[in-house]
Amino acid sequence: MNRDPIFRPWMDQLLKLMGAGAAVTGLYVVLMIYFGFSPKTLNAGYMPQQPVPYSHALHVGELGLDCRYCHTTVESAGFAAVPPTQTCMSCHEKIAPTSTKLDPVRSSFHSGMPVPWIKVHDLPDYVYFNHSAHVTRGVSCVECHGRVDHMEEVHQVERLSMGWCLECHRNPAPHLRPVDHVTDLDWGMGRTEEEKQAQGVEIMKGLGLYDEAGQPTSRMTLMTNCSTCHR
Ligand code: HEC
Ligand code: HEC
Ligand code: HEC
Ligand code: HEC
Ligand code: HEC
Repeated sequence: MNRDPIFRPWMDQLLKLMGAGAAVTGLYVVLMIYFGFSPKTLNAGYMPQQPVPYSHALHVGELGLDCRYCHTTVESAGFAAVPPTQTCMSCHEKIAPTSTKLDPVRSSFHSGMPVPWIKVHDLPDYVYFNHSAHVTRGVSCVECHGRVDHMEEVHQVERLSMGWCLECHRNPAPHLRPVDHVTDLDWGMGRTEEEKQAQGVEIMKGLGLYDEAGQPTSRMTLMTNCSTCHR
């Protein structure tokens, strides 16, 4: 997790200054060139070896479990909690009770120590991100994590770069869907670009990002403010 122990503390300070509205465009460009990219964050394809061969393809794709069955906090909190061992054992006390693949889960259940899952996605600490702000406004998991329901092992699909965040923040409409379909990764796959845009515009109006005439509101300008993501 401590990728950049040296530059992080003063970067925090700097970003607070930027949030305060200082004229720092020049400095910002220099910083971008100087630091380049923070490797692990941007590492699309990153797929650490997990302590248990847990498969989303099986549990979500085949068994049909909803994301929120395990990631219970995605709608209510900034972070998306990884499930406690109890969630697994509610089935696995009876299902595959002797499977050696589940050894670490059973020993966690008996010791009370969590399974040491390795984090796949990890933004630098100076970036503020919030799951509930996206999930409760119609941004599906699939927009940022890809087809997790087809993955045997989760890997990072998007680069999670600032440019990537901003690309959607500048024009979210085609990335939005009715809130009750956010965890249905298959939903709306056949829609054309025009259909996505038209449906998205209506959702944008509902969120107050567009006014009734379809013009961006002041709330829309917050989407690209430095202090929205660097606070
Ligand atoms: C039965 C429980 C369960 C369900 C249902 C489930 N997950 Fe997970 N998820 C896990 C566990 C356990 C991990 C940690 C191990 C791993 O990364 O594979 C995880 C990890 C993840 C990660 C990687 C987190 C990181 O470390 O960055 C993402 C993204 C994710 N899940 C998305 C989803 C999505 C999207 C759905 C619904 C389509 C879903 N999950 C449904 C149990 C579940
Ligand atoms: C709703 C019930 C349910 C929950 C909750 C659940 N599983 Fe499963 N899991 C299953 C079923 C069903 C299978 C398939 C068993 C089989 O093939 O015999 C399975 C298979 C597995 C396997 C493969 C076992 C083998 O030997 O092939 C692993 C590993 C696994 N689950 C881990 C987990 C983990 C870790 C969690 C918690 C994050 C979890 N499961 C939560 C139902 C569940
Ligand atoms: C707008 C993009 C976006 C959407 C939508 C999104 N995520 Fe994430 N997710 C991220 C980012 C970025 C991180 C890394 C957060 C960090 O490191 O602070 C992450 C991390 C995670 C993690 C690891 C735990 C954590 O909070 O760091 C899990 C699990 C996860 N997401 C599951 C989900 C599920 C399930 C959904 C849908 C219900 C979802 N995500 C929707 C971008 C997104
Ligand atoms: C696929 C589209 C999409 C992507 C990708 C995306 N966002 Fe967002 N983001 C949104 C939408 C839509 C909103 C809701 C705006 C509103 O309702 O005012 C939002 C809101 C936010 C907010 C405001 C939360 C609040 O307090 O209300 C933050 C912070 C944020 N996003 C950070 C990020 C970061 C950081 C990334 C990249 C790691 C990111 N977003 C990627 C669509 C996206
Ligand atoms: C929608 C969210 C979002 C907004 C708005 C945003 N940033 Fe960022 N920023 C990020 C993310 C995510 C990263 C980390 C990933 C990366 O390095 O690209 C980042 C990284 C940075 C860095 C570190 C340099 C680097 O590339 O590693 C600087 C400096 C920065 N942002 C400045 C700004 C300034 C100045 C603004 C306003 C013009 C701004 N940011 C607006 C999300 C955002």
